Amino acid sequence: MKKEFVYKRFERFWHWTQAALILFLALTGFEIHGAISFFGFEQAVTFHRTAAIMFLVLIAFAIFWHFTTDEWKQYLPTRKHLRAQFEYYISGIFRNAPHPTKKTVLSKLNPIQKLVYLALKILVIPVMVASGLLYMFYRYPQKQGIGSLNIDSLEKIAVVHTVGAFFLAAFVIAHIYLITTGRTVTSNLKAMITGFEELETEHTPAEVHHTAGTK
Ligand code: HEM
Repeated sequence: MKKEFVYKRFERFWHWTQAALILFLALTGFEIHGAISFFGFEQAVTFHRTAAIMFLVLIAFAIFWHFTTDEWKQYLPTRKHLRAQFEYYISGIFRNAPHPTKKTVLSKLNPIQKLVYLALKILVIPVMVASGLLYMFYRYPQKQGIGSLNIDSLEKIAVVHTVGAFFLAAFVIAHIYLITTGRTVTSNLKAMITGFEELETEHTPAEVHHTAGTK
């Protein structure tokens, strides 16, 4: 095992700020929806709008970071080990089977994470942003423009936005469970806080030979 620097400073900042904003947007959003009561409706609307704008600013910085560091490549989907990873989550994990995918600095996501995170980035979050902005500006001069998109009532926008919110809430619950399934219960969490994680070193054939000889 070797301690590696896996999550860079901006990456950790983005991850935790995004987590806090999504939780806050869910809390205020479900209050606007009428499912819970916490701040009061009017406050919830103000808070939701402010947090949404912060989220948009964060997204802009995150897009810039992903492209300037080439980190977007981490999310390119692959079928390699996809099935093995799936079987691991539904059965191997309960038998203490080894992780099918080895985490490295250059490939830190397993094939299921790659797929799910990619879907969040190119589908769920854009749908939330687009429906949220349509919701925000529906009643204003832009209404003309929205009419040309064939959206005749706020209800459709609200339904899309709420369905997206349920997806995000389900993701957060699954994510919190899955972070406990790393090498140890807290290793993933600690890595996202400190940036460092103990990873299995990849041995060159010469090293493997050497280790085998010393056993
Ligand atoms: C940039 C992103 C977002 C924008 C621009 C946005 C905007 C809005 C707006 C304008 C409303 C209507 C309340 C109002 O008049 O202010 C709303 C409602 C709502 N939002 Fe968001 N939102 C965003 C992200 C999110 C996220 C990430 C969640 C959940 C995780 C969420 C959950 C909700 C829910 C549940 C409602 C109530 C829907 C209803 O019942 O009609 N929103 N949002």
